[in-house]
Amino acid sequence: MKKNSIRIAIVGVGNCASALIQGIEFYRENSQRNPKFEPLGLMHLEIGGYKPWDIQVGAAFDIDVRKVGKPLKEALFAKPNCTTIFYPNLNDSGVIVSMGEVLDGVSDHMKDYPEDRRFIVANEKPCQVEKVLKDSGVDILLNYLPVGSDQATEFYAEACLNTGVSLINCMPSFIVSDKTWARRFEERGIPVVGDDVKSQMGATIIHRTLTKLFEDRGVRLDRTYQINTGGNTDFLNMLNKSRLKNKRISKTEAIQSQMENPLEPENIHIGPSDYVPWQNDNKVCFLRMEGRGFGEIPLHLEMRLSVEDSPNSGGMVIDAIRCCQIARDRGIGGPLISISAYAMKHPLIQFPDDQARQMVEEFIAGKRER
Ligand SMILES: NC(=O)c1ccc[n+]([C@@H]2O[C@H](COP(=O)([O-])OP(=O)(O)OC[C@H]3O[C@@H](n4cnc5c(N)ncnc54)[C@H](O)[C@@H]3O)[C@@H](O)[C@H]2O)c1
Repeated sequence: MKKNSIRIAIVGVGNCASALIQGIEFYRENSQRNPKFEPLGLMHLEIGGYKPWDIQVGAAFDIDVRKVGKPLKEALFAKPNCTTIFYPNLNDSGVIVSMGEVLDGVSDHMKDYPEDRRFIVANEKPCQVEKVLKDSGVDILLNYLPVGSDQATEFYAEACLNTGVSLINCMPSFIVSDKTWARRFEERGIPVVGDDVKSQMGATIIHRTLTKLFEDRGVRLDRTYQINTGGNTDFLNMLNKSRLKNKRISKTEAIQSQMENPLEPENIHIGPSDYVPWQNDNKVCFLRMEGRGFGEIPLHLEMRLSVEDSPNSGGMVIDAIRCCQIARDRGIGGPLISISAYAMKHPLIQFPDDQARQMVEEFIAGKRER
């Protein structure tokens, strides 16, 4: 049965969380104040009877001294967050950020960087995560942990299984796309969405679409790269190559899945490539595709995308939250195939993006179970 609101918990009060919460309030304020307001930037204003502003935060977890113990509305703008502030006057949700378990959330190399650019772990005892989830009555937990936080992600996934809370896994530790984890959520009847958000107009969706276009137009793609730079903590964290394995798999499979004959590994290079502090949350993607068309004559395509990284994922997550809540309202458990294929880079099953979008519409209309 439909609820009045969707209560979420946030793990990792970083740039993505900041952009998401600013966006929810931005659309609420503007839609209510101006009847002619056009909600640019949203794929759906309403899903299953839920508007973006029906999403409420009930709990938040972080480990940074500048965020833990602070009201969420302050923590969302605390250093080292550096995303654009497009809605500064956030409402007070009453949520105080709780201390999470650090586990493998923080990479050692960060200590070589200035304090306002990196994470600083608070000297606090971790809270009882499952108790906080239960007491705050949340429906869905959003995982925004840094890339490479596999143990910490598994810790929160277990907490979801034990409390009946849904997981939306926005980062590339594989849970929803892992058959064993997926089965455990299915057995418990808990809907889940993941893994690793595919941004609204990001490098992945553009690279996928161009790859599919090459295929559809009979052009053979021989070689490609996608080089990304940025200056936020996500890019700083990813300088530690040992944390990057799953991010590369996620981003590379997202492209390879669009080709009938995937490229040899040496002919495809995709990944976060460097940290440029002054870029802050601006991400720049350089993309090159080399192929052969009619008469096997070579063609080269070069593209440069410049985008504010964190707001770029906000609309996708707002849709994922609402689809996940529909599944909860309908009593459906396990990985949600359609919204995961549409909104995530590494779903359990990949589909071309136009098909995934159609599947999401069918799911919303109740014509598809997952
Ligand atoms: N468009 C996008 O920005 C985009 C797209 C796809 C995936 N992602 C992924 O989403 C995740 C979040 O991105 P972001 O830009 O918000 O990162 P961020 O670095 O801004 O935020 C991460 C937050 O996690 C906190 N943290 C670290 N260890 C923790 C722990 N053990 N428990 C609780 N909190 C902990 C940090 O203090 C920080 O506040 C990253 O993994 C990123 O790769 C982002």
